[in-house]
Amino acid sequence: MRIYSGIQPTGCLTIGNYIGAVKNWLELQKENECLFAIANQHAMTVKQVPQELRERTYSFFAQFLACGLDPEKSILYVQSNVPQHSELCWILSCLTYIGELERMTQFKDKSHKNEDNINAGLLTYPVLMAADILLFATDLVPVGKDQKQHLELARDIAIRFNNRYGETFVVPEPYIAKQGAKITSLQNPLEKMSKSDKDQNATVSIIDPPDLIMKKFKRAVTDSDNRIVFSEDKPGISNLLSIYSAFSGESIESAERRFEGKGYGDFKITVGEAVADALRPVQEKYAIYMADKAELDRIMKEGAEKASHIAFRTLRKVKKKIGFVAD
Ligand code: TYM
Repeated sequence: MRIYSGIQPTGCLTIGNYIGAVKNWLELQKENECLFAIANQHAMTVKQVPQELRERTYSFFAQFLACGLDPEKSILYVQSNVPQHSELCWILSCLTYIGELERMTQFKDKSHKNEDNINAGLLTYPVLMAADILLFATDLVPVGKDQKQHLELARDIAIRFNNRYGETFVVPEPYIAKQGAKITSLQNPLEKMSKSDKDQNATVSIIDPPDLIMKKFKRAVTDSDNRIVFSEDKPGISNLLSIYSAFSGESIESAERRFEGKGYGDFKITVGEAVADALRPVQEKYAIYMADKAELDRIMKEGAEKASHIAFRTLRKVKKKIGFVAD
């Protein structure tokens, strides 16, 4: 199967991104043909400082590699290095209705948060995402729950194009894991853990040093009773159990039994340790990759060439179908 997914280089790569996306990518990479992108064109929909965007692109790419995404097995690349994304985006935008885009909850959310910068890109963002996916004849898109609506739109656009111009695009399926598809903020367990949260204690980054990770988990918001069980009325504890399970490999049920009778304080320390321990080797590899920018450039370039090769063929087919003259 062909697998495609991406991450925007904004804020810091969190354990939410890791559990909801990257961890599943690592599994899928073993048996499938995968492409994973740093979606830096998507990041432009909110204001960016150019030098910081460039640095963060390297940093996220190095984190992909450090987590175990393997350029020998998967195509790893930076979106802006493959010009076909924007080309297909334009074509697909002429098949997408403004009403569909205005209904997207992420558009409503982000417009609310950036009232001084409700740019056209913020609205057409899901069309670019559809272009990303459809360029590569993708069967499966592993994402967290928050991307489900965008994926449904990508499917609708693919079906609409195929109906109008004849079978062209593969209609992609979402892949949203049952567990960990929405890791929540450590400070407000009712909200998604977000890369760009201004409250440093709300998120844990893949590259936070171990002592900072411990501090953040010790401060995590829980509730007033003292039972460690996974349940809807205990969002803070349930979130910590999901995080613990993702990093330790132990099932939630088994963790509930093991922590029975223990206090929240001890539990939070154990969760913090599980995360810090699992991330230690990732952080060591990250430092090695970041010290060798030339090697990162080489891997980025190789990935972009491979991605471009596939994208070029899809776009050539699309252009023919819609009546563009051959170039
Ligand atoms: P982004 O950059 O916001 O997030 C990257 C991935 O992480 C998942 N995720 C989470 N999963 C669980 N809990 C959380 N708290 C959490 N926060 C984020 C997201 O669902 C996503 O899978 N538009 C996309 C990037 C993108 C893309 C694509 C994805 C661009 N093109 C094509 C798939 C296919 C985005 O903003 O993800």
